[in-house]
Amino acid sequence: MGYLEYTLPPVVILSVALAIRQYYSSSQRKKAAVDSKKGSEKKGYYAAEDEPIPEPTPLMITPEQVKSYDDRPWRPFRWPYHQTMSIFKLDVNHWLDMDKFYWHYIQEKERIYHEYGDQNIGWLPESWDACVELMEIVRDHMVKRYPLLFTKVDGSNKIIKNELTGETLDTTFPLKEHPLVYVSKMAKEDFYIVLKRDDGRHYMVAGAVPFPGGSFAIKDKIGKHIDQIHSDVPYYETKLKRSMERWFERMQPSELVERASWYMTWDRKLMCSNVYALKADEKIDSDIPPTEFNFRVERQTLRRLPRSKAIIFTNHPVYYGIEEVKDEPLIPSLIKKIIFEGPEDIIKYKNFESFRDHAAPYLDSLIQRQIDLGIIKEDTPIKTLDTYPFAHFVKDAQPDGWKSPHESAKEYQKNLDPKKFEV
Ligand code: HEM
Repeated sequence: MGYLEYTLPPVVILSVALAIRQYYSSSQRKKAAVDSKKGSEKKGYYAAEDEPIPEPTPLMITPEQVKSYDDRPWRPFRWPYHQTMSIFKLDVNHWLDMDKFYWHYIQEKERIYHEYGDQNIGWLPESWDACVELMEIVRDHMVKRYPLLFTKVDGSNKIIKNELTGETLDTTFPLKEHPLVYVSKMAKEDFYIVLKRDDGRHYMVAGAVPFPGGSFAIKDKIGKHIDQIHSDVPYYETKLKRSMERWFERMQPSELVERASWYMTWDRKLMCSNVYALKADEKIDSDIPPTEFNFRVERQTLRRLPRSKAIIFTNHPVYYGIEEVKDEPLIPSLIKKIIFEGPEDIIKYKNFESFRDHAAPYLDSLIQRQIDLGIIKEDTPIKTLDTYPFAHFVKDAQPDGWKSPHESAKEYQKNLDPKKFEV
């Protein structure tokens, strides 16, 4: 059964609208390509429209290899910590990364859509062309980047088999489900679709966001413009707004970027982390062993679709145990510094106060351990790693992903309790 059959009545209404929309879709898409070119001249979007859009190169990993494959090791800790866009160029090969948690994420998406419906997935009618284009670009990306994981069933890319889940996905028209459902059955990322309206502002017009982490519901963001969406974000008005506007105006389909932020929690839930499930001023349960602490990286990408001109924002949570990174130079020191001495509003936004006193003795013991083992010195300056936003060993990519060279990390991985991933 499809996701949509479980969701709420407005979705049923939208499904009917969707069938009608599909009928007109292909001729409109052709027209949109012409109009948007005109529009782009009018709005000054694209100085270099003919710049080729980068294509991924094949990575020949098999479903069996994915079971132990690791994502790039994210360590996005900055000191000094200033709120900035902190975006960097994205290699298209890493737009939709693959790792051993793939199955869990795809299953969780399905469960969350069934249980929570439009709290986590939704779209406005104006987003149709962009959602179709997104579905096609994700599908083509997966087939090209992971030829052994996403295979062609009919010789073209239109009907493909996801070899990881065993599901055949038929993207020929008329579609049986909304394009965002197909996207969610291929990629483990959350997707946000943003369009510029006639008032010149950028609005979120659709989203498939099963893993917001708990600080917001996507239902409350769809239809809002970027400033409203970021109204609770610390220092948005003073440090982010203007550079983001400028970036959105100028962004080309050929220029992909990524960024990463993080917060700490003591679970691995994808939809709502424990740290955001606490009530105001509530503190962590003092029985929680500090070795349970994780940091959740919110790995984000931005790209513009060439046809609809929509901006696609993806977010992908990745969890790492503090125990897992305890022997990486300076990581415990950076975390301790940021949760106690970071910018005040960020400390509040990420709810650091709810657990930091509980975590402090543990972090101190890890810092001392690093000094005792000679990993750092007492006076090693605490500052952003040279390999930011990745771990110090990122250069040592291996065929099965990026594995930590530290024995303590291997031990941690070996003993990682699968129950930790349950909701
Ligand atoms: C360069 C572009 C962007 C930057 C620099 C940016 C920055 C941020 C920052 C700093 C936060 C606070 C959490 C964190 O530390 O990461 C945030 C939250 C958020 N961003 Fe963005 N963002 C960008 C683009 C977007 C886009 C395109 C969307 C899609 C609509 C989006 C949706 C959100 C949402 C939903 C939140 C959570 C807000 C809440 O807590 O209520 N962001 N963003």
